[in-house]
Amino acid sequence: MAPKETRAPSESLGPDYKPDIEKPIATVSTKVPHENVHVLSQTPQLIALLTMIRDRRTNRADFIFYSNRIIRLLIESGLNHLPTLPHEVMTPVGKTYAGVNFEGKICGVSIMRAGEAMEQGLRDCCRSVRIGKILIQRDEETSKPRLFYEKLPGDVKDRWVLLLDPMLATGGSALMAVDVLLSKGVPEERILFLNLIASPEGAANFANKFPKLRVVTAFVDEGLDEKNYIVPGLGDFGDRFYTL
Ligand code: URA
Repeated sequence: MAPKETRAPSESLGPDYKPDIEKPIATVSTKVPHENVHVLSQTPQLIALLTMIRDRRTNRADFIFYSNRIIRLLIESGLNHLPTLPHEVMTPVGKTYAGVNFEGKICGVSIMRAGEAMEQGLRDCCRSVRIGKILIQRDEETSKPRLFYEKLPGDVKDRWVLLLDPMLATGGSALMAVDVLLSKGVPEERILFLNLIASPEGAANFANKFPKLRVVTAFVDEGLDEKNYIVPGLGDFGDRFYTL
């Protein structure tokens, strides 16, 4: 005989089914007042995934797995910002369906090295997508970000650009990456900057300097520490994804 269910029905269901007093209290994204900063819906799934990758005890394989799940959500959400055109199709049962298709070409541009972790998620959603790369590092002498390398599709100015970097801390490198894209003729409003965790400072820097560009992020954290790490954050994303 099957064991008898001893829990109340509401205990075995998701938080939406529980009365307010029984819902888990989770930290949700900090509210920011910028119209061009879009934060993913704070669902129980997303918060649980973020909890996994924030946990210092999470091993590398799990960090990669759960980060990839969030990256997928971010890419899908980012793609919803792209324009569509009406597109009617005929279904196999001979009926017409009034749908839409995407207008225009896209490409990804990853900010090396951590941004490269988001490339596969983009490829999984957009088959054969072109992907460029930008390497910006802090200059040892001046402490300022410096452009070391860029390789972008030749027709980047005619594409929508999904700029990829998982952590938006001060935004120094990402702002410089946007300057590179603008210098190639990409209109600001055709850039979508996707990241997993942003700081309020980074979000504000973007909103002030590039109000027409859209930032799509999974979470805005509390702030930055004295070393410009995001807090509570998840530590160094690149180290955890690639090496630890
Ligand atoms: N980059 C990271 O990987 N982590 C931070 O907290 C800030 C920038």
